[in-house]
Amino acid sequence: MENNTGKTAARAAGRGAGKPSILVVDDERNTREGLAMALRRDWDVRTAESKDAALALLAEAPADVMLSDVRMPGGSGLELLQAARAAHPRMACVLLTAYGSVETAVEAMKLGAADFLTKPVNLDQLDIVLARTLRTRALERENRELRKRLDDRYGLENIVGSSPEMERVFDVIRQAAPSQATVLVEGPSGTGKELVAQALHHLSPRAAGPFVAVHCAALSPTLLESELFGHEKGAFTGAVAQSRGRFEQAGGGTLFLDEVGEIAPEVQVKLLRVLETRTFERVGGSETLRADFRIVAATNRDLKAEVAAGRFREDLYYRLAVVTIRMPTLAERAGDVPMLCDHFLKQFASESGTGAAKRLEPAALALLQAYPWPGNVRELRNAVERMTVLSRGETITVADVPPEIRDAAAAAAPAGAVPGESLADAEKRQILAALERAGGNRSKAADELGINRRTLHRKLAAWGVPPRRGAAAR
Ligand SMILES: Nc1ncnc2c1ncn2[C@@H]1O[C@H](COP(=O)(O)OP(=O)(O)OP(=O)(O)O)[C@@H](O)[C@H]1O
Ligand SMILES: [Mg+2]
Repeated sequence: MENNTGKTAARAAGRGAGKPSILVVDDERNTREGLAMALRRDWDVRTAESKDAALALLAEAPADVMLSDVRMPGGSGLELLQAARAAHPRMACVLLTAYGSVETAVEAMKLGAADFLTKPVNLDQLDIVLARTLRTRALERENRELRKRLDDRYGLENIVGSSPEMERVFDVIRQAAPSQATVLVEGPSGTGKELVAQALHHLSPRAAGPFVAVHCAALSPTLLESELFGHEKGAFTGAVAQSRGRFEQAGGGTLFLDEVGEIAPEVQVKLLRVLETRTFERVGGSETLRADFRIVAATNRDLKAEVAAGRFREDLYYRLAVVTIRMPTLAERAGDVPMLCDHFLKQFASESGTGAAKRLEPAALALLQAYPWPGNVRELRNAVERMTVLSRGETITVADVPPEIRDAAAAAAPAGAVPGESLADAEKRQILAALERAGGNRSKAADELGINRRTLHRKLAAWGVPPRRGAAAR
């Protein structure tokens, strides 16, 4: 027979260079060698005559596919399958079974075999099965990469911060995400509540399902009700067709109730009922629907105070606040300002396709760190965008900092600019003041200023400031 076995398979692997690798395991020498010979042209083939020999070879170098006999002395092929899958979860395993032993084949598939072939092996069939296996494997890899990219976009990597305040937030997200628990995210405007809601979704078992957001403040009570629960045709004037509500749309996924503190009392009662029973009716409908959703809610009000003031139902509050995450204000974590600036500078550079991110001169960064940021991260993001667009050079200087930020920062920080002082002098004075506050510890001063330690060393050397005695290594 003309042997083109593996050619299609090798092509399906989608790699230009290098053949895909296969480990052939069979205790019968003839079968082993026969298969190896048939596959050699298009595969990188290794052979083993037992379970132990196979595992030893895999430990040396992994394979794309393992083609193994089920019945072998010294440990059955099924045991090999289990051990190999445990050690190399991404390797595809194809098993060879005796003709007619369907039970073994079924068992093999349950243990994670990608496919099976009956002996004696038909080489054309072998080619088809191996090609299919490689294609599936390539798809799986693609899926993994896509999922990873989504994680990067919506997961924790997307939430910038290394302050203890943010570390606490990350810890709660990691703990709460895998559960079904309702989470209430509290914090002032622009602190990243929506990012946290997205991360909770994308790190949860529901990540493959939809993330549906409802901005509760934007809608009148009547509209919000129909938005959440949907409506039947003719339920009210303008309801010309049946509509599925957000609870239905969020099936299998996460429903994000933004600004939940703004919900009117009459809708609060209905929301409470859905949370308690997981059932609801569309507006104007009589059919009781069951929905599978997980709720994440956010508010920039102090919901407990709203409860105390009688504006928010206490029972609903406790339903929502099973887990609470309090977002710190940016002023509470000013140490994160340099990282955030860096993040946004890179983001705007890549969005505008201008190549390299602009640099923030230390004195400009010092101003941004001294500013109280009432609009939190959103305001900082906007400021960085504005400075990126308006600054002419590669470096954003003090002159590029929006005047209102410069003035407020100067008023807030004793190290702010002195009228009439040159920028270089202002920078020098700020750096020396920070060094003094840090008791001469350069690392500490650099941290406080949010500048690189080496930059600080260079500047100090240029000004002729000697390193503190006994602290040369700092
Ligand atoms: N820690 C963070 N790292 C990176 N970007 C952030 C961070 N926090 C907020 N942002 C960005 O700031 C902006 C505002 O964030 P977000 O919409 O999540 O805030 P919010 O708390 O929901 O505000 P609001 O209460 O006004 O709706 C978004 O562009 C978001 O990407
Ligand atoms: Mg928001």
